[in-house]
Amino acid sequence: MEKLIIRGNGPLNGRVNISGSKNSSLPILAATLLTKEECVIRRVPDVSDTNYLLQILRSLGAEVERASGTVTVKCETIKSEAPYDLVRKMRASVCVMGPLLSRLHEAIVSLPGGCVIGDRPVDLHLRGFEALGANVRVEGGNVIVKASELVGSEINMRGKHGSTVLGTDNVMMAAALAKGTTILEGAATEPEVVDLANFLNNMGARIEGAGTPRIVIHGVDELHGAEHTVIPDRIEAGTFLVAGAMAGTEVTLRRTRPDHLTAVTDVLTQCGHSVVTKGDTMTVRPGSTSTGADIKTEAYPGFPTDMQAQMCALFCLTPGISVVTETIFPQRFMYVAELTRMGANIQMEGATAIVHGVEQMSGAPVMASDLRASAALLLAAIKADGVTEINRVYHIDRGYEHIDDKLIDLGADIQRLNA
Ligand code: EPZ
Repeated sequence: MEKLIIRGNGPLNGRVNISGSKNSSLPILAATLLTKEECVIRRVPDVSDTNYLLQILRSLGAEVERASGTVTVKCETIKSEAPYDLVRKMRASVCVMGPLLSRLHEAIVSLPGGCVIGDRPVDLHLRGFEALGANVRVEGGNVIVKASELVGSEINMRGKHGSTVLGTDNVMMAAALAKGTTILEGAATEPEVVDLANFLNNMGARIEGAGTPRIVIHGVDELHGAEHTVIPDRIEAGTFLVAGAMAGTEVTLRRTRPDHLTAVTDVLTQCGHSVVTKGDTMTVRPGSTSTGADIKTEAYPGFPTDMQAQMCALFCLTPGISVVTETIFPQRFMYVAELTRMGANIQMEGATAIVHGVEQMSGAPVMASDLRASAALLLAAIKADGVTEINRVYHIDRGYEHIDDKLIDLGADIQRLNA
């Protein structure tokens, strides 16, 4: 099992290229199941999650080729059952259900387990499939979804925690080949949903309103192959903006979509840091004096839950008191105990972290628990005094493309060791 050894040292400086979005790549790769024809997807990040999905596509019968960031997929003949041993590794595998149901009128996918950020139900996905006329049952840990035909319907996609990103993706893909028109109310409005809808429309789908809470899908008879370039990863970009605010003198991000990051840049500016955008580049400089802030995670365009841990790491070293409230995955604070081991002063009250800024944190052996928590530990380690050892680094490799190399290019002192 690999670990990272980080020595807190001088400031980060320079330029970093942001990769394509993991959370956009996953549903778009799943959408290639909707056609027999070849699809070419560019800027697919080389991370474990996208590679797991490519393995699942191959196991379903797809021909898959990856040449660095470009993936070519052809799903000429496919089967309806996704293998448990692959699906259990990644909850987002659930996004193959909609395309399989749409193309084969049957999908058999193991129920995703929970994960450290909280239980990960799929009831809203299944409710959407049933509204389109599918029959859903759970048997032997698998969800079995079948339909003699899929007929458009009006569907409310909201749950007790608001909208669902992959649920919106799944039902949109299931509706793409349904008879008639489907209206999704309370749809997720994330940029990754828009990217998927754009790809589906390039394949011949007729989808309107993606990016708003009301998406209209006019079913078509079939979809054809298409080419698509995935949008930049807004969470990777946000992570590097926080890194620059915490430990930089001047860090410039290239290949970004600044308009996807306004909630993050607003908080950094509010704290006294400078973020200057110019076209697809964003330059961050730490403020000479900074103050804390209060953040509450919300669906897009609110503050993203996937940036909560990273911003909390910044608050640990920001004078004053900051408050972090998590409303989407209330348990998403596994990293707090680890930051505390490094000298952070954080009090938990339910799904709220009260952060008292400290002068300095110190390196320590810490344990990564999930993707974004690992990023928070990495950022804290770069700024901490002394050496930090981050174990279970596979968590960070799930969603950040060569993040240690990118940080080393900015001046960080990081070694990757086989433990
Ligand atoms: C997507 O997960 C992202 N993953 C997550 O990023 C992200 O944190 C999340 O959206 C929220 O923005 C991908 O896109 C691959 P949800 P998703 O369905 O779609 C509840 C990362 O770090 N819910 O929008 O699975 C759910 O429990 C990952 O890159 C139901 O109740 O999240 C949560 O409280 C982590 N029933 C809320 O909705 C359902 O059927 C939002 O979840 C589905 C979800």
